[in-house]
Amino acid sequence: MLVQSLVDSLSVHAPAKLNLFLNVLGRRPDGYHELETLMVSVGIYDTLRFRPAADGAVTLRCADIRHGTSHPAVPAGDLPVGPDNLICRAAELLRQSTGCTRGVCIDLFKRIPLAAGLAGGSSDAAAALVGLNRFWNLGLSHSELHDLAARLGSDIPFFLSPTPAAICRGRGERVEPLRLPLGLHFVIARPPTGLSTAQVFQNYRPSPAPHSVAAFADSLQTGHLARAATLFHNSLQEPAERLNPDVSRLKAAFARLPFLGHQMSGSGTSYFGLCSSQRQARQLSTRLRAARLGDVFAARSRP
Ligand code: C5P
Repeated sequence: MLVQSLVDSLSVHAPAKLNLFLNVLGRRPDGYHELETLMVSVGIYDTLRFRPAADGAVTLRCADIRHGTSHPAVPAGDLPVGPDNLICRAAELLRQSTGCTRGVCIDLFKRIPLAAGLAGGSSDAAAALVGLNRFWNLGLSHSELHDLAARLGSDIPFFLSPTPAAICRGRGERVEPLRLPLGLHFVIARPPTGLSTAQVFQNYRPSPAPHSVAAFADSLQTGHLARAATLFHNSLQEPAERLNPDVSRLKAAFARLPFLGHQMSGSGTSYFGLCSSQRQARQLSTRLRAARLGDVFAARSRP
């Protein structure tokens, strides 16, 4: 997460994530599912800009800039900008837990596709926690921010990790930062339709991974990318394919191209392939775009 301080505003760039490994271990008494997942953040960013408010109100405006528009008065399709938005909920939680009464005008420039398994909303919420902690001079520690993040949503603590990769356990909130020796090159495709995370989890039928997240992490950390790609796993892909045929269409399209490996991210519907180089990612993204199955991005994770 990159924070830029300017004269009268603060900007935070909030990355998307991919789940290279996601194993559902079982359903918990609280209705959530116990997970072990390895996530990496990748270079598709939303940007949040914080500016002073004339009063004590928190206001959010959002611009969809995937297609080049840059003014935050242009609405981002289906994204609600009221109090239910995770950014507003993060701001309110910070104010409640610290007693802060200051307001803020937040502009969100949206590039990460919605309902896509790329955790754009969770990353935005983490960016709001980090940005407002700085903007309002709240002085909360990393572990205090982590606790607030876990209260807001399962994927949010990952984005506070000091490394671009991490193994996350529990509901997703127990984060073990991971160093990778190499940057990873991906092609990511988001079909025209999305999926609800809750619905995908509800349709999950137990099918444990044939190996643990530790075996997968080991092959990544020793730089054996081709081997790591054979160990990709996502327990949520089977229910997502049942719920949404777009996921199966993407799977077939990726299988026709020479990716090291490919699978769905998170609860879908985005699908990604791992490439051996940036050049290959560019070439394969062009070929995939020609299939017209959705938006296609070439994106890289940092080492
Ligand atoms: O935590 P978050 O609000 O992002 O989760 C959205 C929904 O996904 C939850 O309401 C729950 O239905 C499902 N979920 C789950 N187990 C997890 C994470 C999410 O069942 N570990």
